[in-house]
Amino acid sequence: MLNHTMVILEVMASSLLSMLFFRSLNPDNMIEDPNTLSSYTNMFDAMVDAAYYSMQALNFTGISIIVTQSGWPSSGGANEPDANVDNALAYNSNLIRHVLNDSGTPSQQKLPINTYIYELFNEDLRVGSLSEKNWGVFFPNGTALYSLNFVNAVEGDTLSKAMPGVFCVANSSADSRDLKEGLDWACGPGGANCSAIQPGKSCYEAGNLFAVASYAFNDYYHRTQESGGTCNFGNTAMITTNDPSHGSCIFAGSTGSNSTTNGGTTPDPLGPSNGVARLQAKLAHVASMLLLLCFYL
Ligand SMILES: *[C@@H]1O[C@H](CO)[C@@H](O)[C@H](O)[C@H]1NC(C)=O
Ligand SMILES: *[C@@H]1O[C@H](CO)[C@@H](O)[C@H](O)[C@H]1NC(C)=O
Ligand SMILES: *[C@@H]1O[C@H](CO)[C@@H](O)[C@H](O)[C@H]1NC(C)=O
Ligand SMILES: *[C@@H]1O[C@H](CO)[C@@H](O)[C@H](O)[C@H]1NC(C)=O
Ligand SMILES: *[C@@H]1O[C@H](CO)[C@@H](O)[C@H](O)[C@H]1NC(C)=O
Ligand SMILES: *[C@@H]1O[C@H](CO)[C@@H](O)[C@H](O)[C@H]1NC(C)=O
Repeated sequence: MLNHTMVILEVMASSLLSMLFFRSLNPDNMIEDPNTLSSYTNMFDAMVDAAYYSMQALNFTGISIIVTQSGWPSSGGANEPDANVDNALAYNSNLIRHVLNDSGTPSQQKLPINTYIYELFNEDLRVGSLSEKNWGVFFPNGTALYSLNFVNAVEGDTLSKAMPGVFCVANSSADSRDLKEGLDWACGPGGANCSAIQPGKSCYEAGNLFAVASYAFNDYYHRTQESGGTCNFGNTAMITTNDPSHGSCIFAGSTGSNSTTNGGTTPDPLGPSNGVARLQAKLAHVASMLLLLCFYL
């Protein structure tokens, strides 16, 4: 009989960006496994289930899986445009939300998936493409690249119509003419709902271009992010997990928690990653996987 049996899973992906980033898919876009008829909204579940089914084919069941490395690089070379802070933050935030929800995978809805984020620190000495050195949430000197929120990660909306808890705000050091231009674009061609920043409304702040631009940028971002909208506005905007909502002025994506914890992320670091495949920034077409089966008899 097998006791204390554990499977360690490490994944390399990918294809559909939405699938990868746990963004919600409309029912037509879900990927249905023709063998099991389970519908998948994200690549993570699909790969974990592939591991469960592989084990089942070998007659092993009831074995829990630990995903030992999963993450996204925050920067990369010119040929790795998807390796950026926005995507790293999106991937890891949604991964945390997904895992903390304890909802398992379509095939194993009662088995939570323990997962380790790859990785705590950038490994600046790694060889290979630029992205290889940039998987960390922190620089080697301990400065955070972006902040992750583990508090109330599950509350609010379900799977990230547009990433609850993540906000696109104006960069306070941006040039005010550029900010104004970004604001006009967001409220005009960008299609943001700017009614809350009209005089007398809840998010109006006379003379505070930074505050009103932040509202408009964030509204645009949450409306369009699923279909590829970005948080840029001529480099005047940035992503944050600090909820800018205040009083009756509620920013899109607010979970009402206003956690002010910043940079307080300490996922356990993981062992050596040599010979280990990780989610690659280069979006190739094939999803493949590598399983390390460790059986303790
Ligand atoms: C799994 O169990 C079934 C039924 O006992 C058996 O027919 C089959 O050969 C087993 N498969 C493997 C890979 O051991
Ligand atoms: C840490 O390193 C990063 C990247 O090299 C740099 O931008 C940042 O200023 C450094 N922080 C401190 C406190 O030295
Ligand atoms: C959380 O779990 C519920 C059911 O247990 C599920 O309907 C929902 O989609 C899950 N949300 C996330 C973010 O995984
Ligand atoms: C904010 O703008 C300043 C000046 O343009 C720039 O140096 C800085 O990198 C920007 N910060 C972010 C987080 O984009
Ligand atoms: C725009 O936002 C206001 C509140 O800020 C809301 O009452 C209104 O329904 C929104 N309009 C649309 C089209 O979403
Ligand atoms: C959220 O926290 C920020 C920073 O501490 C604060 O300025 C803001 O007023 C808070 N918003 C709410 C709704 O409490």
